[in-house]
Amino acid sequence: MQDRIAIVTGGIGGLGVEICRRLALSGSRVVAADLGTRAERIAVFGEAVADLGDRVRFEPVDVADFDACRNLVERVEATLGPVSILVNGAGITRDTTLRKMDRAQWDAVLTVNLDGVFNMCRHLVGPMSDRGHGRIINISSVNGQTGQFGQTNYSAAKAGMHGFTMALAREVARKGVTVNSISPGYCRTDLVMTIPEDIRRDIVARIPVGRIGEPSDIARVVAFLAADDAGFITGANIPVNGGYFMDF
Ligand code: CAA
Repeated sequence: MQDRIAIVTGGIGGLGVEICRRLALSGSRVVAADLGTRAERIAVFGEAVADLGDRVRFEPVDVADFDACRNLVERVEATLGPVSILVNGAGITRDTTLRKMDRAQWDAVLTVNLDGVFNMCRHLVGPMSDRGHGRIINISSVNGQTGQFGQTNYSAAKAGMHGFTMALAREVARKGVTVNSISPGYCRTDLVMTIPEDIRRDIVARIPVGRIGEPSDIARVVAFLAADDAGFITGANIPVNGGYFMDF
């Protein structure tokens, strides 16, 4: 992955920071793309990647905005060079049961978590195909495989992400571009740590390996799929959940 250019959306989030670090340590030059409105979070991110120098940088984007995504890709390609790794990690939750869910809670989750994947891929899949190389990695969720109480919006988006992954993988398989998803289980991120403690305790108790996941557990798999020699894996979903959900 020497000097491959990577964009990681949700790059300053719970999993994103570790994904950026891992890709940079594997030799890539990484752009962490995320909302530019959270100054405090951006500063924390800057400290977390300070040791990596200019191998990791922040660029603002709202993945829900199609034109902003195009603009991001153009900016990165103009300044750093051709993007060959895209990690779609931007994701939000608006958990509540369907009978209480309002339209805005549905739209927010679908627009960021699923439309965001389209918005980024749409601007990169052509150039990647033309250049004969690309790695697209979509961060889905175990809750897209199982469904989760209070997450009709999130589970729908995350399951949809995998359908998207398989369809796009077929379209670009002959072009040197792979498209895969990873389905993390419950990991130590802000998203998970804001689940009410009693509910979270019950969830963690049901993880067979006996611990919550660490962002590094996910980042390691991202780096594996992003590698130049991972070209025979495409259209796959890799569950990384401590055995919380097992499927054939
Ligand atoms: N299974 C079955 N019944 C449940 C339940 C569950 N898991 N949770 C609550 N209930 C019951 C309640 O006891 C209640 O019953 P009664 O009506 O008989 O009293 C009823 O369902 C409704 O409960 P609430 O009124 O509490 O429902 P709510 O609309 O306030 O929503 C919730 C509750 C916020 C969804 C809460 O259940 C919750 O936070 N659940 C966890 C959701 C979760 O796991 N989110 C993951 C976030 S992290 C992430 O998404 C990352 C990733 O990819 C893994």
